[in-house]
Amino acid sequence: MTLDLPANPNAAAVAADRAHVWHHLTQHKPFETRDPRVFVKGQGLRVWDAEGRQFLDGVSGGVWTVNVGYGRARIAQAVAHALTEMNFFAQTTGSVPGAQFAEKLISRMPGMSRVYYGNSGTEVNEKAWKMIRQIAVKRHGGRKSKILFRERDYHGASITALSACGQGQRVRDYGPFTPGFVEVPHCLEYRAQWGEGDHAGSYGERAADAIEEVILREGPDTIGALCLEPITAGGGVITPPMGYWERVQQICAKYDILLHLDEVVCGLGRTGTWFGYQHYGLKPDFVTMAKGVASGYAAVACLVTTEEVFDTFKDAPEDEMSHFRDISTYAGCTAGPAAALENMAIIEEENLLENTRNMGDRLMDNLRALQENHAAIGDVRGKGLFCGAELVADRSTRAPLAEAQVQRVLAECQARGVLIGSTARAMQGLNNTLCLAPSLCVSADEIDEITSTLDQALTRVLG
Ligand SMILES: Cc1ncc(COP(=O)(O)O)c(C=O)c1O
Repeated sequence: MTLDLPANPNAAAVAADRAHVWHHLTQHKPFETRDPRVFVKGQGLRVWDAEGRQFLDGVSGGVWTVNVGYGRARIAQAVAHALTEMNFFAQTTGSVPGAQFAEKLISRMPGMSRVYYGNSGTEVNEKAWKMIRQIAVKRHGGRKSKILFRERDYHGASITALSACGQGQRVRDYGPFTPGFVEVPHCLEYRAQWGEGDHAGSYGERAADAIEEVILREGPDTIGALCLEPITAGGGVITPPMGYWERVQQICAKYDILLHLDEVVCGLGRTGTWFGYQHYGLKPDFVTMAKGVASGYAAVACLVTTEEVFDTFKDAPEDEMSHFRDISTYAGCTAGPAAALENMAIIEEENLLENTRNMGDRLMDNLRALQENHAAIGDVRGKGLFCGAELVADRSTRAPLAEAQVQRVLAECQARGVLIGSTARAMQGLNNTLCLAPSLCVSADEIDEITSTLDQALTRVLG
């Protein structure tokens, strides 16, 4: 089906985009001879570009964001109401939508108690790290200031977030970086770093022990926090191996290290629970979230922490420097929490967590069935509607498929009307994982449409 549009009504916008907009993560040379893609309409999981072409969106707005799908008028109405009542005041004060969303969010996060608003995933991650640095000053004479991050994880685009980035291609050319961030090894069993004899227990325990080795090398009294994605997203959809999280939690407790979980992708239902960490019974000190918080209907991000952390910042009211001295202007916009509240209501009323688990199982089953027929699918990973298929040139050696070939698979899907994603320009030689993450309201037919299209694309590109 194509949209019934009059002759190219968006031509002027496309020309303006081509002339003046600099797209993210994009090499613009090709747009000297052809138009960039401009999307003009979305409904459910379908989007239409300026040419009127329709696509089934298998990655929720390209970057795991539009959790409740496109065209939700009730979110727009809630935002309109918030804006006409009181659009903004600095977040040094409160707002009705901000208070209501915080209460609702905390009710779904047992053990957590305080919400700190921000604008983006990058920004709330940095806010967590500022808190961790200040806690180091307050409790440890400034010593426990280092923050551990993991190879293949990503936490944002600023220079400091890139200082905590485990993806070589993302950081290249952008240094020098912020000191005090230390990398620990990844936990992707398919790309296991240690030989069989090197771990008596499970691979997951071995990968967690590798974190302890870094802690001991650096000195436990210098490490303030460990920052991890519950399931690594852009680094290859890496689901943690058995035994990993239990050991990680023990290690944090043993060395008095705060646990910061970056739920920017997993948060708000993507994996079939409200948060990814809730699958593993973790007790984090900081949880950061963005993307799915308001499904892209407004820009809002949150840092959620415990009452214990919160209390640390009101311990010395007579000291004018003891509270958290941080502000972001746009965190006072009420559109964000108003949209987030409605987004959460939709997830609950439409049972989208359950749908995510059911449709996620179907997506994983379909991918595993494709793996039987396509030798190029080396590994299939995922949880809920957060799935990845790692493509290889040779299944026996696990040699990664070249990035250009992976991109051809994406292009073939797109030519057939389905948008999927992949790891791209993140890790040299390892940009070979397809990403599939449709909106949480996806139907069984839509899941099958995504995987049957992928089937055709793989046959076309790789035989
Ligand atoms: C796990 C993770 N953390 C943080 C970010 C950064 O979020 P933002 O782009 O909103 O700054 C991203 C973005 O993709 C992400 O995947």
